[in-house]
Amino acid sequence: MTSLESQIEELTARLRQAEEQLAQAQKMEAIGRLTGGIAHDFNNLLTGILGYSSLLKTFLPENGKGYEAAAYIERSARRASELTRQLLAYSRREAPTFRPVDLQKVTVEAIEILSRSVNKNVEIHTDFQAPPKPMSGDAGALVQAMLNLGVNAADAMPDGGHLTFSTSLFVSDGDVYFNDVLVPEGLYVSTCVSDTGIGIPEEIRDEVFAPFFTTKAPGEGTGLGLSMVYSCVRTHGGFVRLVSSVGVGTTFQILLPVMEESGDADEPRATEAEIPRGNETVLIIDDEEIPLNLLCDVLRSLGYTTLPASSGEEGIEILRYAPEKVDLVIVDRIMPGMNGIETLARLRAISPTLRAILCSGTSKAEETPSGGVPDGFDDFLQKPYERETLARKVRSVLDAKPSKY
Ligand SMILES: Nc1ncnc2c1ncn2[C@@H]1O[C@H](COP(=O)(O)OP(=O)(O)OP(=O)(O)O)[C@@H](O)[C@H]1O
Ligand SMILES: [Mg+2]
Repeated sequence: MTSLESQIEELTARLRQAEEQLAQAQKMEAIGRLTGGIAHDFNNLLTGILGYSSLLKTFLPENGKGYEAAAYIERSARRASELTRQLLAYSRREAPTFRPVDLQKVTVEAIEILSRSVNKNVEIHTDFQAPPKPMSGDAGALVQAMLNLGVNAADAMPDGGHLTFSTSLFVSDGDVYFNDVLVPEGLYVSTCVSDTGIGIPEEIRDEVFAPFFTTKAPGEGTGLGLSMVYSCVRTHGGFVRLVSSVGVGTTFQILLPVMEESGDADEPRATEAEIPRGNETVLIIDDEEIPLNLLCDVLRSLGYTTLPASSGEEGIEILRYAPEKVDLVIVDRIMPGMNGIETLARLRAISPTLRAILCSGTSKAEETPSGGVPDGFDDFLQKPYERETLARKVRSVLDAKPSKY
């Protein structure tokens, strides 16, 4: 072959590759739009499931079977809303929100969900060797990735078997490749999800991470699980590879970079004991999903029961259902339809002693020219806020003697 011929051949190959990539990108864009729309609608439904399952819990005696069931619905709905959030992020290619994460906790959380949902003859084991090094990441997305791997593993063992989650520290000397991608020099936490299932035949190993690649029957799998795992791991600066042997089992290994040790990494933990907590029930009204979820998550982490509502109308519905169960409302100032101030007036008509905090992205001075707390509200919360600020405000409003209104 002449050198010209070989050049033409190489260019043709590259062109074909570029064409394939373009087709793939177009397919992904269409999927993105579709999943974005579905995820959005789902989130609205899940807000109701989450709110009412939390509320149901408040009617039932703790330790009872009913309470446990409601708590399980609530946890599952929370996971589902994390999944839809992840789908939204995936479809918009958004960067996830990164915070310090303990990967072991993430894994334990995924196992807790799996242990309730997978076939009883699948035995789940753990082998945590890695010291708890913090990493930077999106805990919700990582739990989802572990869940996807766990579900796949369980699916590969229809007659039962062993599913093992193990962690260890991994050092790359800069000459390690995962799926043909170079793993740069550094310290990583390695997590392996291993099964004793059917294995993955060699001829499809390169394809399993592709979106919509599935060997499952129609209606049983969408083929998005591993592509989500892949994109999640990559956005975390991590790497993934698989080792499989047909009839023996499969291991997916994930590497995630360990966070640089920083002097103040321990600071929040030192003050954790001093942050005031509570067990009251807080109704949270915000039309925007992320601040709503965030408020709920933070308050739940402080021990409170939260009832999320995405509009004034929905908040009123929830309160009307059980006015005596709700101790405090946190409502966003600006919402389409009924705004925060109008909403409070309607809520107070149902529950006159309800405490209330107004929340807004604009400053208090802009809200009320006098700089005081807007009419009828006990306090004002400026977005964005620190967890500790929120904890103190909520506690102090709840502890203040009911007065005026
Ligand atoms: N642990 C495993 N053992 C054997 N095969 C696996 C395993 N994990 C993945 N696979 C193969 O890879 C394919 C793609 O997995 P992926 O999770 O992306 O999609 P899926 O499980 O088919 O559908 P879903 O979107 O519901 O996750 C599977 O259909 C299966 O053939
Ligand atoms: Mg899957």
